[in-house]
Amino acid sequence: MALSLFSLPFIHPQLRHTLPRMNLFDFILFCVVHLVDKLGLWHRLPLLLGLAYLGLRRHLHQRYNLFHVAPLHGHHYDTLHYAYRTPDGTCNHPSDDLVGSQGTFFGRNMPPATSDYGLLDPHPTVVASKLLARKKFIDTGSQFNMIACSWIQFMIHDWIDHLEDTEQVEIRDPDGYLGGCPLKSFKFFKTKKFKTGSSNMKTSHLNTRTPWWDGSVIYGNNEKGMTRVRTFKDGKLRISEDGLLEHDEKGIPISGDVRNCWADFSLLQALFVKEHNAVCNMLKAHYPDFDDEQLYRHARLVTSAVIAKIHTIDWTVELLRTDTLLAAMRINWYGFLGKKFKDLFGHICGPIFSGLVGTRKPIDHGVPYSLTEEFVSVYRMHSLLPDDIVLRDIKLPAAEDKCPPVLERVPMSNLLGKEGERRLSEIGMEQMLVSMGHQSCGAVELWNYPTWIRNLIAHDIDGEDRPDPVDMASMEVYRDREREVARYNEFRRNLLMIPISKWEDLTDDEEVIEALREVYGDDVEKLDLIVGLHAEKKIKGFAISETAFFIFVLMASRRLEADRFFTSNFNSKTYTEGGLEWVNRTESLKDVIDRHFPDMTRNWMRCSSAFSVWNSMPNPTNYIPLYLRLASS
Ligand code: HEM
Repeated sequence: MALSLFSLPFIHPQLRHTLPRMNLFDFILFCVVHLVDKLGLWHRLPLLLGLAYLGLRRHLHQRYNLFHVAPLHGHHYDTLHYAYRTPDGTCNHPSDDLVGSQGTFFGRNMPPATSDYGLLDPHPTVVASKLLARKKFIDTGSQFNMIACSWIQFMIHDWIDHLEDTEQVEIRDPDGYLGGCPLKSFKFFKTKKFKTGSSNMKTSHLNTRTPWWDGSVIYGNNEKGMTRVRTFKDGKLRISEDGLLEHDEKGIPISGDVRNCWADFSLLQALFVKEHNAVCNMLKAHYPDFDDEQLYRHARLVTSAVIAKIHTIDWTVELLRTDTLLAAMRINWYGFLGKKFKDLFGHICGPIFSGLVGTRKPIDHGVPYSLTEEFVSVYRMHSLLPDDIVLRDIKLPAAEDKCPPVLERVPMSNLLGKEGERRLSEIGMEQMLVSMGHQSCGAVELWNYPTWIRNLIAHDIDGEDRPDPVDMASMEVYRDREREVARYNEFRRNLLMIPISKWEDLTDDEEVIEALREVYGDDVEKLDLIVGLHAEKKIKGFAISETAFFIFVLMASRRLEADRFFTSNFNSKTYTEGGLEWVNRTESLKDVIDRHFPDMTRNWMRCSSAFSVWNSMPNPTNYIPLYLRLASS
């Protein structure tokens, strides 16, 4: 009976084999989701129905897209002794101290790829050159600015990085191939494989960063990193007189994570060091008995929560600019009943009505928390990076449209690493922040992968230049294959999405279809994930693909709901009254900028969010209550 249900003709034949593992209830939910998918409807539904769809999808992904790759051998510990975020991410999971700590395995959202295409099929350089390489810069209009681009790098450096092997691999242009990689050949370190001790996934990779949303990008990923950034006075972090990061004797910035840093990225680190230090001042004023350690620990909790909140209800809302996602993201933080209700009554109604933040217990859906290989892959968004940064003159009085005049264009390659730090200190924090605010970032589209990053001197883990350059575009194609991340169509099937059967299902663009055919023939199964995600027709208002988005639906919620410090310990006992109030009052990046540069947004920002282009118009007032809106954008 059950089996005959799974083969209902209405269900896409390529999804039928995944269904027998579902119970009847989930199967019914799947049928609803699948029907909506077949009609291509969810983002056009009235807002409440759109939210219901996303709720069902998230439930299915929580049940069928979380895989634990290896048994952990951590210890039980007393959570009361660890009412703070430890330097290396240990002691967060309530019963296993190792979960989510530095150096643990990446998880999976789906089994490793089953297709047996080789690592060089098709050649990564051909894929990169014919489909990814930038022809002419495509921007995101006024939706997303350079602060938004750097913000996501700031987050990536909080969450994920693969440990490398000591063995190198070389990618050479195929024989006789012209117009390939600017480097013709380049070498890089393989991703290091470790035995998992588990029978289903025999080997896997380690995350050198702590995957928790714990601000490790400014605090470091272990004791050594933490010691480097602290002043050990009043809980504060090191920062220089000009408000920017301090540097060591080699000119490398002193911060939690300095790998592949550049001017805008280190600017955001500096901004949040300022935020941390301001929280320390507030705590010291409220709780004069706190010593350096207590001030540091509480300020770290508060600042990390501010970062997580900005990402949830400000950055993501701009990335996925629709009413449905505005509501969904606010529900993740405040719950369906909203901020006012939560402020008045507290978290009294469970995660849906009162939000994931503040739930009584962390929830991991039976799979210990980690970030996943697939999560890394969908964040391969180097096309967000432009070719140069447009510096603006903020010495003149602001014009009516709040757009400062252009001073000069600085090539991105001059803003990387130590040279970038030097340029940033000449430019200064305010001018750089305003300039970034006014510049649109690149779009996640084909033919928009920056050329300069195809000839990049990458950094090692300490922020030192590697001796030889790499072509990032070819390397990214290779990395997904090397890590056995499913190719695009298998990825979609594993996410219970309808797979494509011809190129026309992916895009309407004839020129793109021709190029895809040139590289992959008619074999849609061969399509690389990174290419599919960049080529996919986008939902109106979304700056990323729907396929990437469904990974976010699952993982963005998980970063909050699996973390003790956003759930059972999100309380005044752990954060202090003053600390919780600080998080609660901060609603956006604009609030943080206003705190540290009181005149900046008043003078230079016209739009509603600090992540959209600053001189664009603010969001128009919509008098229809959010939940009653009909279409989602
Ligand atoms: C100037 C800016 C940036 C530089 C120089 C840079 C450079 C790099 C380098 C060298 C790697 C390692 C590649 C490898 O060995 O596989 C990397 C990885 C990565 N980058 Fe960037 N990146 C920049 C900005 C960004 C931005 C804006 C994003 C946006 C999401 C991003 C997302 C990622 C991701 C997801 C990885 C993979 C991490 C992993 O393998 O664990 N990066 N980047």
